[in-house]
Amino acid sequence: MKLAVTGKGGVGKTSFTALFARLLKDKGKNVLLIDADPDMNLATVIGVPPEIQKKPISELKELIAERTGVIPGTPAPLFKMNPKVDDIPDKYCTNYNDLKLIIMGTIKKGGGGCACPENAFLKNLLSYLIVATDEWVLLDMEAGIEHLGRGTAIGVDHMIVLVEPNLTSIETAFRINKLSKDIGIKNLHVVGNKIRIPEEKIFIRDNLKSMNVLGFIDQSEVIKKISLNMISLMDIDPENLAPIENIYEKLNSIKH
Ligand SMILES: Nc1ncnc2c1ncn2[C@@H]1O[C@H](COP(=O)(O)OP(=O)(O)OP(=O)(O)O)[C@@H](O)[C@H]1O
Ligand SMILES: [Mg+2]
Repeated sequence: MKLAVTGKGGVGKTSFTALFARLLKDKGKNVLLIDADPDMNLATVIGVPPEIQKKPISELKELIAERTGVIPGTPAPLFKMNPKVDDIPDKYCTNYNDLKLIIMGTIKKGGGGCACPENAFLKNLLSYLIVATDEWVLLDMEAGIEHLGRGTAIGVDHMIVLVEPNLTSIETAFRINKLSKDIGIKNLHVVGNKIRIPEEKIFIRDNLKSMNVLGFIDQSEVIKKISLNMISLMDIDPENLAPIENIYEKLNSIKH
């Protein structure tokens, strides 16, 4: 299954992705994690030691130059739109605790959109990873999902928009809902995060009536501590994964 996680900044995308990965690992599944947020921090939350962390793909200038025929950062009126990427996952993937992680990295946007070789390369890689990978793929994304493109969107089985009980993250969810339809995402769901009181669940449901609310995750000291590296994702008690398990079951019950 291919699952993309999105939502407004700070709602808990990376934490959710990491917890979901831990759940899948406990179930013995093979998991490929893709950090597709330019503000990459999935490796930190997973607890990957910096010395074994592979470079973000966008920083592999020589590789991108070789595959697209253009040195990144130089004007490139002509470059290969479909550069070869199928050997990348094995070579540039970080392996840690039975989890595989690919960090896409940041692209500096040039004028007139992003028709640069780096972007063509990353887009093609993302599409390849989603469409051709025969395992669980979890994608930690920014809220701007436009760059996914139709070809990649077709491969995404479910997209989860995380929201907090506030209007700004709900507004972002509406925007993502519209974008997701434009690019052809099939199943979009909402998960409410950082819930403190039951009324906050009602607030989220009431404000997102047109969207499918999959479940809720309470405000949790344990989740906070993982992001502060005060406890390891791998060491937390499985009972902390109960809300994630609930979401996992619901996703599995949806027929494709
Ligand atoms: N359920 C939760 N309970 C308590 N704290 C949480 C919860 N979910 C996330 N957080 C905290 O909220 C902060 C932001 O979380 P996280 O980095 O996962 O969000 P994000 O959406 O990935 O952010 P960004 O947009 O910066 O990538 C972190 O300090 C994290 O510990
Ligand atoms: Mg994040």
